[in-house]
Amino acid sequence: MTKYVAAIDQGTTSTRCMVFDHSGRVVSVDQKEHEQIFPKAGWVEHDPGEVWTNTRQVVAGALAKADLTTGDIAAIGITNQRETAVVWDRTTGRPVHNAIVWQDTRTDRICRELGALGGGQERYRDKTGLPLATYFSGPKIRWVLDNVDVARAKAESGDLLFGNMDTWVLWNMTGGVDGGVHVTDPTNASRTLLMDLDTLAWDADIAADMGIPLSMLPEIKSSSEVYGQARARGALAGVPISGILGDQQAATFGQACLSPGEAKNTYGTGNFVLLNTGTEKVMSENGLLTTICYKIGTAAPVYALEGSIAVTGSLVQWLRDNLGMIGTAAEVEQYARSVEDNGGAYFVPAFSGLFAPYWRSDARGAIVGLTRFVNRGHLARAVLEATAFQTREVIDAMNADSGVALTSLKVDGGMVVNELLMQFQADILGVPVIRPVVNETTALGAAYAAGLAVGFWESEDDIRQNWAQDKQWEPAMDEETRERQYHFWKKAVTRTFDWVE
Ligand code: G3P
Repeated sequence: MTKYVAAIDQGTTSTRCMVFDHSGRVVSVDQKEHEQIFPKAGWVEHDPGEVWTNTRQVVAGALAKADLTTGDIAAIGITNQRETAVVWDRTTGRPVHNAIVWQDTRTDRICRELGALGGGQERYRDKTGLPLATYFSGPKIRWVLDNVDVARAKAESGDLLFGNMDTWVLWNMTGGVDGGVHVTDPTNASRTLLMDLDTLAWDADIAADMGIPLSMLPEIKSSSEVYGQARARGALAGVPISGILGDQQAATFGQACLSPGEAKNTYGTGNFVLLNTGTEKVMSENGLLTTICYKIGTAAPVYALEGSIAVTGSLVQWLRDNLGMIGTAAEVEQYARSVEDNGGAYFVPAFSGLFAPYWRSDARGAIVGLTRFVNRGHLARAVLEATAFQTREVIDAMNADSGVALTSLKVDGGMVVNELLMQFQADILGVPVIRPVVNETTALGAAYAAGLAVGFWESEDDIRQNWAQDKQWEPAMDEETRERQYHFWKKAVTRTFDWVE
């Protein structure tokens, strides 16, 4: 009897395979980091070959660690860093360029040129729910076709395929050049700037506008159905692959935010707040994205409003790797606890410009409010506070868009082990912050999508029942302090504008 579901989480910094049991508990996990390639300021790439190798290794590793065999696994779900674009040759299986990562800003000029054709940043908003920004896949595909030798000719003759990491992993897992399935789901497709949010189909006009042949694009299926089987030779051979969700939507699903009005915030490389708006598509007037939350089989798609923040956890990594100011990510909390407050310092990490609610690709990072008084502890604190302030900004936008104020926030992701940050988050939002027992909600959400498709879980009620609270932080800061600090944060943000000319 098959007792478990496996999920592959192909994230920005690492790839993981996690195995879950029927109650949604983690049975086994294996993880491997991949190289972050920074060829120029503002450029971020991953090697798709390395990512695929790591995927195979972590799948085998997760099975071996818990002594599991293929027969123990009912289904496989895939979740992934969204927007990151891979273009490969369908006949050789080889990528024509490194993957261009969601954080990469090289398409700034392409975005400006497309906007200048009319409509500016809002050119595709009505159809796609997104502003025209470097974050999304479409302009990244265009860049590859414009800049890689013979790529355009090959794409036009039907030899090149595009995929986000979900599609790249799925195509390879299902056989690659030998019959690989070229498919994605609506949550990923809704991040390309190429999908119509109403029809869930590629929009031929936008693709033509961007010079992208439709033949490159994967077929859009639902987030929960059998797409194919893992191929022979690898671990999990023959097991159905039956769930795909972009990582933030997967976390929303894994957090059981399954009713309109429920929201979660994931603290990863960046932060992503998603509010389930049900089968209604809410268009943002305050700088948020309208996106697909999930589509389970033949059921109607569920939409979400999203506040995307590019840099949160990756700021802590930057402190460790680029400045050497801390030895491990966990040390940031230690330093932050050595002081009472931020000492007047504010750190706005606009490393990829600013995403929601600003969408300013001309912004660059700044530390402001410095005096001789400021020490390492204050800076560590400013680094953590930046995550909480940025979250407050997107929650404010969400409250304005939905007309209802959020009464609590479910949180997950790597940074939620940081108690100081969680308390400060509750303080600066003025609402309780709630962490679930299973914090691995991204992989769990993908497992749920896959398990639902094969009857391992029966309905979304199973997901609701499996969710359990671990800890809740109550706001403890007085209103005046909260608003004063937030006022200075807002002022600091304005100092990052106009840095790219
Ligand atoms: O949109 C980008 C997001 O999907 C990346 O998430 O957790 O891999 O950094 P993460």
